[in-house]
Amino acid sequence: MPQRGEPSGTASGSVLVTGIRELVTCAGADGRMPVLGPVVPADERLGVVPDAAVVVEDGVVAWVGPAASAPGADRRVDLGGRAVVPGFVDSHSHLVYAGDRAAEFSARMAGRPYDGGGIGVSVAATRAASDDELRGLLRARVAQMRALGTTTVEVKSGYGLSVADEQRSLRLAREVTDETTFLGAHVVPPEARGDRAAYLDLVCGPMLRACAPHARWVDVFCEPASPHAFTGDEARRVLEAGRDAGLGLRVHGNQLSAGPGVRLAVELGAASVDHCTFLTDADVEALVSAAGTTVATLLPGVEFSTRSPYPDARALVDAGVDVALATDCNPGTCNTSSMPFVVALAVREMRMTAAEALVAATVGGARALRRPDVGRVAVGARADLAVLDAPSYEHLAYRPGMPLAHALDLGSGAGSV
Ligand code: NIG
Ligand code: FE
Repeated sequence: MPQRGEPSGTASGSVLVTGIRELVTCAGADGRMPVLGPVVPADERLGVVPDAAVVVEDGVVAWVGPAASAPGADRRVDLGGRAVVPGFVDSHSHLVYAGDRAAEFSARMAGRPYDGGGIGVSVAATRAASDDELRGLLRARVAQMRALGTTTVEVKSGYGLSVADEQRSLRLAREVTDETTFLGAHVVPPEARGDRAAYLDLVCGPMLRACAPHARWVDVFCEPASPHAFTGDEARRVLEAGRDAGLGLRVHGNQLSAGPGVRLAVELGAASVDHCTFLTDADVEALVSAAGTTVATLLPGVEFSTRSPYPDARALVDAGVDVALATDCNPGTCNTSSMPFVVALAVREMRMTAAEALVAATVGGARALRRPDVGRVAVGARADLAVLDAPSYEHLAYRPGMPLAHALDLGSGAGSV
């Protein structure tokens, strides 16, 4: 994953990338479609260029087109006839944690439902870990993501839940990404269970003040069905405080029930509302009206790992909602960071087309993070490319669980994958 602010393909001089049997730009046929523009059907956004080449200069795409008309460059990298897609944009993850909850997962597979209570286990392990331990775990997780084709990742706090531990989580997250999210309102931590109001005062006051300098976003687990998470009124307070501190808004909404999260996110102009597993017609209408502002981020790895029903992606896409796909990689509900696996689930379990799923995993994530510079292969965008050990992007869903994708590193002069 790129360090803060640096494109992944940083190298001096220009690089001509050839040997691309199929390039999917996710930027439309002309490569110019603005990532923050109006909703456009996925097939029109796909932009497939057979036998393509890309020229990269200082980590930015300088030219895209048929290899036969490619300009020269200082160096050449030959991908040997593989497919290339934009690096995946994973707009929802919780990577700063210690310990694991494999026992909770096994209990769930035996029938115990998820209610968020296990988050306290991860909080205890995270608080007990040293900075170096947490940094090592985080960096290893980011390296795994990059090895699977992800080039932009959002990372949340939320397993510290004290002023010092939340600030530490965000400080460490900032070492690996600009897309950091303050999630002090993940759950009410065990020591504060007797006084929720006091914990909310802490989150919206001293904790926010300590964390805001290290965060771009604020998030809240809005879920009245969980005794550990937050009601609509509580979530509104957290989001408004975060907004007043200069942070952009994101919401965990409608994961366990058709609660108020989606409509709250839309009302407040959040960049994304994530999960969207249980939606009413009014929620879908709200998301339709919010297209261009609030993205519905679907996290089917969570449904896979919690045995919950999958969100109705088909209804959302067909209604014109902006949809993103992300992993939600975390120790509780979904311990995978594989965007190719998420794409395969979206196609197999949520009936998205392979094109819709790829656009949602790239352009969709970019929109959810309000990042016009990533998620597509277009002149002026960051040169974040995912190489597939396959002839076409459809293999992502067609060959689930196979190690097909990796982020292309143009930093060395080696000139090969
Ligand atoms: O997005 N639902 C809230 N947060 C995470 C799960 C966190 C956990 O269980 O550790 C999620 O699913
Ligand atoms: Fe999450």
